[in-house]
Amino acid sequence: MKIPVINTPDFLTLADITREEMESLFELSAKLKRGVQKGKFPALLKNRTLAMIFEKNSTRTRVSFETGMIQLGGHALFLSSSEIQLGRGETVADTARVLSRYNDGIMIRTFAHSKVEELAKWAEIPVINGLSDSFHPCQALADYFTIWERESDISKVKLAYIGDGNNVSNSLLIGAALLGVDIAIASPKGFEPEMAVVEKAYKMASKTSSHITITNDINKAVDGADYLYTDVWVSMGQEKETAKKKKVFAKYKITDELIARTGRNTKVLHCLPAHRGEEITDSVMDGSHSIVFDQAENRMHCQKAVMCALMGR
Ligand code: CP
Ligand code: NVA
Repeated sequence: MKIPVINTPDFLTLADITREEMESLFELSAKLKRGVQKGKFPALLKNRTLAMIFEKNSTRTRVSFETGMIQLGGHALFLSSSEIQLGRGETVADTARVLSRYNDGIMIRTFAHSKVEELAKWAEIPVINGLSDSFHPCQALADYFTIWERESDISKVKLAYIGDGNNVSNSLLIGAALLGVDIAIASPKGFEPEMAVVEKAYKMASKTSSHITITNDINKAVDGADYLYTDVWVSMGQEKETAKKKKVFAKYKITDELIARTGRNTKVLHCLPAHRGEEITDSVMDGSHSIVFDQAENRMHCQKAVMCALMGR
């Protein structure tokens, strides 16, 4: 099986890879997915190990990395920060150097993105960002793969994201700019994606003709959208803001009426976990437009491709 060459030691944001590299990861993800469907599991990472540090909860990321690693002939270690010495004050730099002596890769889910960067700076092995407060590149990679496998030309797609300008929308923006996807993000005033990320995306988009719209107007965002996307109003670590956000975000939700307003046979994405009844209704989650469980499955296929590219060298 041909393993894509990606010219980055780590996978911290989607800006670490090129459009061609992203498409080659999609090709490998598709092959690995077909393999799983046929019961074939090429041992591309035999005897390799991935240390997974979690400072926040997870279902999909933890299980898809761990299962993916086993399918590739390797092994993943679940390291909860409350149980390892990092949680008692051992430095990120020391942790990085120690884990590098035992393992072939590190995946980290944490708060500040600077911690992911610090880990990558000191690690002698590839570091994968499994979600920080600013980015969720593994998620966006799987999201665009989920669209790519349904489309003959992904650059003709319009994606509309309704909700918080958070880690997920930041990564979707970078991914859209890379792939030439048109993206519209509708968030309440004061909750738009980070300006630095928007500027970076605009710069990248000038090379791919991706059209980027940042707005507070949901109707403007969804007009003509082929795919609608949403995420929770309150991300992990923002729990204190729950009451305020529930009021501000009340209208920023995907409903059957909103799907009808796109004027298309729109598909609906959500990174999950969903807060049913808040950013998405039960009827949409469980309805015919929803592709959220295909999307969740694709996390594993895409992360297997990333691990092969980074750790199979
Ligand atoms: N989408 C996602 O990253 O899910 P988990 O928080 O369950 O890992
Ligand atoms: N924005 C969400 C994504 C969860 C996968 C969070 O950070 O909690």
